Amino acid sequence: MVMAKCQTASFNFRSSCFFLVFLSVFSSIPLLYWSYSIGYGYCHHQVENKEILLVEPINLLKFPKAWNQLVFSSKQLPPQRLLKIALFVKKWPEKHQAGGMERHALTLYLDLAKRGHDIHIFTTSSSSANIPSIMSNIQFHISRPLGSGYLNQVVAWKQFLEENATKAFDVIHTESVGLKLTTSNNYLNNLAVSWHGIAYETIHSDIMQELVRNPQDPSQLMTDGKMMKVVEEVKFFQYYAHHVATSDHVGDVLKRIYMIPEERVHIILNGVDEEIFKPDASKGNDFLLKLGIDQDKSRSSIILGLSGRLVKDKGHPLMFEALQQIFNENSTFKDNVIVLIAGNGPWGDRYKELGSNLMVLGPLERDQLANFYNAIDIFVHPTLRAQGLDQTPLEAFLTGKPVMATKVASYTGSVIVNEEMGYTFSPTVKELKKVLYKVWEEGKKNMQKKGGFARERGLKLFSATKMAAAYERLFLCISSTHDDGKQEKKHEHYCIYKLHQEID
Ligand SMILES: *[C@@H]1O[C@H](CO)[C@@H](O)[C@H](O)[C@H]1NC(C)=O
Ligand SMILES: *[C@@H]1O[C@H](CO)[C@@H](O)[C@H](O)[C@H]1NC(C)=O
Repeated sequence: MVMAKCQTASFNFRSSCFFLVFLSVFSSIPLLYWSYSIGYGYCHHQVENKEILLVEPINLLKFPKAWNQLVFSSKQLPPQRLLKIALFVKKWPEKHQAGGMERHALTLYLDLAKRGHDIHIFTTSSSSANIPSIMSNIQFHISRPLGSGYLNQVVAWKQFLEENATKAFDVIHTESVGLKLTTSNNYLNNLAVSWHGIAYETIHSDIMQELVRNPQDPSQLMTDGKMMKVVEEVKFFQYYAHHVATSDHVGDVLKRIYMIPEERVHIILNGVDEEIFKPDASKGNDFLLKLGIDQDKSRSSIILGLSGRLVKDKGHPLMFEALQQIFNENSTFKDNVIVLIAGNGPWGDRYKELGSNLMVLGPLERDQLANFYNAIDIFVHPTLRAQGLDQTPLEAFLTGKPVMATKVASYTGSVIVNEEMGYTFSPTVKELKKVLYKVWEEGKKNMQKKGGFARERGLKLFSATKMAAAYERLFLCISSTHDDGKQEKKHEHYCIYKLHQEID
C-alpha cells in the first residue's frame, strides 16, 4: 500500500525509491539531498517504516511543480473546514456550447460544491431567466454582459459586496479576467486567478498561424500590437495576489517573464471528469456500429479522432491538406483509415470532400463524446492556438487513448511528455504526414499500449478529483493567511504538505 502511494505520487521515481531505502543504510546525509532532488519527499512515506524521517515538509506556496502530483486526502467528507467561495466567470456553460474556460469552471465547482463548500458564482446571462440552480450550495449572481461579452465589473462587484456583507467570503477566485483588477488599490490577498491563455502564449500561436496562412489572406502579425499586450499583462497581473497556471509552461512564464514572485504562482493542471471519461470498449464498439462500421472493418482500420470547433486556428486546414496528400499518394492508407470528427464549423463540409471514410458527426454531448473517445485508436489535436491547456486531449488520456498534438509548450511540458503516450509534431503538413504514417505503421496494438500509459498519466494528473483537491487546498491555504487575525493563523497548516498526514 505504502509502495503504491509512492508510485502514484511520483511517475518515474520508483527505482529511485528503492535506491533511497538502500542508500539509507549507509548514510543519511546524501539521503536528505536525494529525497529533495527526486521530488520533494514523494517517497517520504516509504522510508518511514525503514527507520528515518528526514524529508522536510513542503511549503505548498513555493512548490514548483504541478499540485496535481501531490496526494491530498480528499476522501474526508465534509472537509475539516468549509469555505465560502466567490467565483467570477464571464459565462456559465449551457450544455455542450462551452469554451474550455467555462467547462473548467463547471467541472471544478461541481466538485467543490459536492464537497460541501458554499459557492457563489458571479456570471452573466443574456436572457433574463436565471440559471437554474444545480445544487443548493451553489448560488448564482447574474448580471447582463457588456457588449464585449465581459462581466459588468461595477454590477458584479456590487453584488459581491452585498453578499460579502451577510457573511465574509473566505476566498475569491476568478477565471481569467472575470474579475479585472486595474490598480493596486483593490489588492485582495485572498484572491486567486486562473489563467487560461496569456498574451505571451499568443506569440507562438501567431507564428504558427502566420506560417500556415493562405497567401491571399491578410497577415495579422504587424497590426495587433501583441507585444504591448504582453507588457500590459506583466503590469496588471501584479495586482492579483495568487496565480494558478494551468500548465507547467505558463507557471514558468508567469514567474520568469511576468516576474511574479514564486510563492504567488501555483501550477494546477486542468482536470476532466473521470467518471465520464473512462475506458469502455463495448461503448466504443456500439458507437462504431451505429455509424455503420462493423467489427471487421474497425479491426482492420486505424481510427483517428478529432473534436472541437472545426475552424482554421484549430489547425483543420493543416489536417485537411495532410490527409488529402496522403490519400492521393497512398491508396492503401486511404482504404485502411477512418477519421471521426466530432464538432462543427466551416471545415466540416470540406472534410466530407475527402471521401466516405471521413465522418463529420456534429457537436456531441459529454456522454456521446466519451463513447467517441472509446471508439477511436488515437486522438489528433493539430491546434495552432497555444493558449491554455485544452481539455480534449486530457479527455482522450483518461479514456485510455494516445494523443498526437502540435508541439505547443503546454502539451510537450505537461501532457504528452514522451512517445510512450503519443506524439507531438511541428505544425507543418510534412511533419503531420510523417506522424500519420508512423501511427499507421505502428498499428492498433501499439496505440492500445500507448493508451494504457496515457490513462495512467491521466488518472495521476488530469482527473477532476485531483484538480479539485488541489484547488481546495490552495483555497484553504490562502484563506488562512489573508489576515493577521490570530483566529485565522491556526489554519496555516493548510499551506504545509506532509505526506504522512495526507494519506489516510
Ligand atoms: C468582506 O467582509 C469582511 C468582513 O466584514 C471585510 O473584512 C472585507 O474587507 C470584505 N471584503 C471586501 C472585498 O470588501
Ligand atoms: C503506403 O505507405 C505504407 C507505409 O508507409 C507503405 O508501406 C506502402 O508501400 C505505401 N503504399 C503505396 C501504394 O505507396
